[in-house]
Amino acid sequence: MSHNFDLLLYNIGQLLTMDVGTEPVRGKQMQKLEVLEHAAVGIKDGKVTWIGSNEEVVQATSVITAKEKMDCQGKLVTPGLVDPHTHLVFGGSREHELALKQAGVPYLDILKQGGGILSTVKMTRETSEEELVKKATFHLDRMHSYGITTVEAKSGYGLDWETELKQLRVVKKLQKSHTMDIISTFLGAHAIPQEYKERPDDFLTSMLELLGQIQEEDLAQFVDIFCETGVFSIEQSRKFLSQAKEKGFELKIHADEIDPLGGAELAAELGARSADHLVGTSDEGIKRLAEEGVVACLLPGTSFYLGKPTPARARDMLEADAIVALATDFNPGSCPTENLQFIMTLAALQLRMTPEEIWYAVTVNAAHAIGVGAERGQIAFQRSADIVLWDAPNYLYIPYHYAVNHTNTVIKDGKIVYR
Ligand code: NIG
Ligand code: FE
Repeated sequence: MSHNFDLLLYNIGQLLTMDVGTEPVRGKQMQKLEVLEHAAVGIKDGKVTWIGSNEEVVQATSVITAKEKMDCQGKLVTPGLVDPHTHLVFGGSREHELALKQAGVPYLDILKQGGGILSTVKMTRETSEEELVKKATFHLDRMHSYGITTVEAKSGYGLDWETELKQLRVVKKLQKSHTMDIISTFLGAHAIPQEYKERPDDFLTSMLELLGQIQEEDLAQFVDIFCETGVFSIEQSRKFLSQAKEKGFELKIHADEIDPLGGAELAAELGARSADHLVGTSDEGIKRLAEEGVVACLLPGTSFYLGKPTPARARDMLEADAIVALATDFNPGSCPTENLQFIMTLAALQLRMTPEEIWYAVTVNAAHAIGVGAERGQIAFQRSADIVLWDAPNYLYIPYHYAVNHTNTVIKDGKIVYR
């Protein structure tokens, strides 16, 4: 056998291919994780073209040539991480809210007083498209540095036609200019802007009117809504999302983040791709998510940062055989971090997920949460070479040694994007 690669990774200590085919992995199956020891991976034209043993490279039982050879020195190698829920594009920052949090002002009260999401809306409206591209590029670079190679990005800090389109166009530019894969979500229904304070239904109608333009310019694939006390009710969310679905968008929902309104049940009823947060989700909601195959996308960084006493019931969801994914929820208010590795630690300590479950949740299932399960989240023959080489001896190590960055080298579509 002879091989000719652009890049050869050899002397891999542990290789997690996460190669499970095109379907997501449900709760109980998430315990079984295949680990290849002493492996090697060959990459050609941005794709994985060979997965073999290190002996084949060292003993040259096959004729292997490569433009570049990387000695992995016994380290852990995994698929690039997928972050399926972020609010990537925004103006300004909200560090002054930390003192309010410390004084015990609840998140939804800050919003009610015109702060929170609404203060980011003001700053985003005032920031130029060019500046937003620059700012988001900085965050994308940092996400790459943490091992993330695919990310979802929501709008929702415009809440008017002009600024929502501006945010979405920023994402479209970044899809072309940046090496990160970015999946775009329209979250025009993120809060009620001051102008529509007394007329939330009219506001939702105006956001629905944008969908045509969004489709015309191909600006988003998903539509999302913040279904929450003081924001949008179940009824409003049902109406809004149903109309988006009719227009051909896939659905996501910020569900049961703070109050248990029944967002999970609504996601199941509407056949949403994912329901996100799920901190206050009921038994019935968990059962329905599992039945309908809606991805339960958990964001433990947010419950941690909001100081919630109880996190999402991940164990019950896994027990119910739901499809569980993890994300950062990166945003300037409820979770200002790009560090998905830290979220993996929170998933272990607060959600009581096992390391095996956590790895599925940040690769295979995270990719399914944003509709790219057939292309991303695995190291497999003829899949895109999105690969992380970690300064860690094994996969248990990442959630264990916490709040630092373990990446050694990050490869996206066969190219080194961080080293
Ligand atoms: O997912 N909950 C709504 N949206 C974000 C927070 C956005 C913000 O505070 O700016 C979230 O937590
Ligand atoms: Fe969010």
